[in-house]
Amino acid sequence: MKTRIENINEKTKEEILGQAGAILKNGGLVAFPTETVYGLGADALNEEAAFKTYEAKGRPSDNPLIVHIADMDALNKIVQSIPKKAQMVAEQFWPGPLTMVFQKSDMVPRGTTGGLNTVAVRMPDHQLARELIVAGGGYISAPSANSSGRPSPTSAKHVAEDLAGKIDMIVDGGRVEIGVESTILDMTVDPPMILRPGAITLEMLESVIGSVQVDRAIVDETSKEAPKAPGMKYRHYAPKATLTVVKGELAACVDAIEKLTAERLEKGDKVGIIGTDETIASYTHGMVKSIGCRKEEESIAHNLYHVLREFDEEDVDCIYSEAFFEMSIGDAIMNRLLKAAGQRVMIAEEIVNSKR
Ligand code: TXA
Ligand code: MG
Repeated sequence: MKTRIENINEKTKEEILGQAGAILKNGGLVAFPTETVYGLGADALNEEAAFKTYEAKGRPSDNPLIVHIADMDALNKIVQSIPKKAQMVAEQFWPGPLTMVFQKSDMVPRGTTGGLNTVAVRMPDHQLARELIVAGGGYISAPSANSSGRPSPTSAKHVAEDLAGKIDMIVDGGRVEIGVESTILDMTVDPPMILRPGAITLEMLESVIGSVQVDRAIVDETSKEAPKAPGMKYRHYAPKATLTVVKGELAACVDAIEKLTAERLEKGDKVGIIGTDETIASYTHGMVKSIGCRKEEESIAHNLYHVLREFDEEDVDCIYSEAFFEMSIGDAIMNRLLKAAGQRVMIAEEIVNSKR
């Protein structure tokens, strides 16, 4: 299959959206930008289209898709009821980087929900995305538009790297704004439960609906419990290089990474370092990339997947990364980074103090 890659501007927009909408209504696949990451769109009410989505991504079919909508009317039709707290959360955070899980209505096929009786729904805060949803019939399932196991795409180029030849069209709307996937909040339990951290944080949600729980399996990744969002059990990114997160006081992290890098370089390895604007000048060797500025935490989320893909292209043997715990979107960043690292973490102070 030849994948059309379409640039959107004021002149082309109407025509391309019309064509993309027709592809979706015919059961085809169209990748498109949202404010979080690029999504791989398909008609959420068409089971065949869901199967095509799983195949294109190489994704296990027990991992449900998020249904994207453009207005509240659409929500009413695909869920059994809207709990009061969900209404409050929607009023505050939709459109936005937040997904809510509801009991599904019969309108949603099980192919879309990975066999579950619940459905995850999101209204994205991205003009083009919402116009595409409407053009495609109003209910568009969209997992992140990467091959299963690769970092989520934050640009049309990333989508093409993974999915060119496997989908009908990529709508290029430039680089996305946020860079990590939406927060997932399960509204079928009370108090509601966060199944995946994202830009809408625990504190933000609690300020609107009071107590919110967090899935234990994502707080403690060594927990034996299975995560409640089926997709969270899969390792998201298996880089060629081994990624290790080094945590501790920032100065100790830099010293530890310097020491670890020197050891690996001596062995003849190619070493990548994920630093920040505040620290990159302190590293004296290795291939250093800044992931953003600690004072502007959003910049770190924005660059995370981009930097991981860049290191993949550089063919490094190992990557050491600083940790990012203290920030409000830090939970979301660390959750993704630790997944990419296969939970490999070292304590900076122990490395600095060890005789090696
Ligand atoms: O920001 C986002 O949410 C992006 C953009 C494209 O909107 N989409 C996204 O989709 O991240 P995906 O498929 O890569 O991740 C969906 C996650 C998976 O972990 C899946 O298991 C979980 O949502 N999920 C979907 N439906 C669910 C349900 N009914 N119950 C629990 N978890 C669900
Ligand atoms: Mg994904």
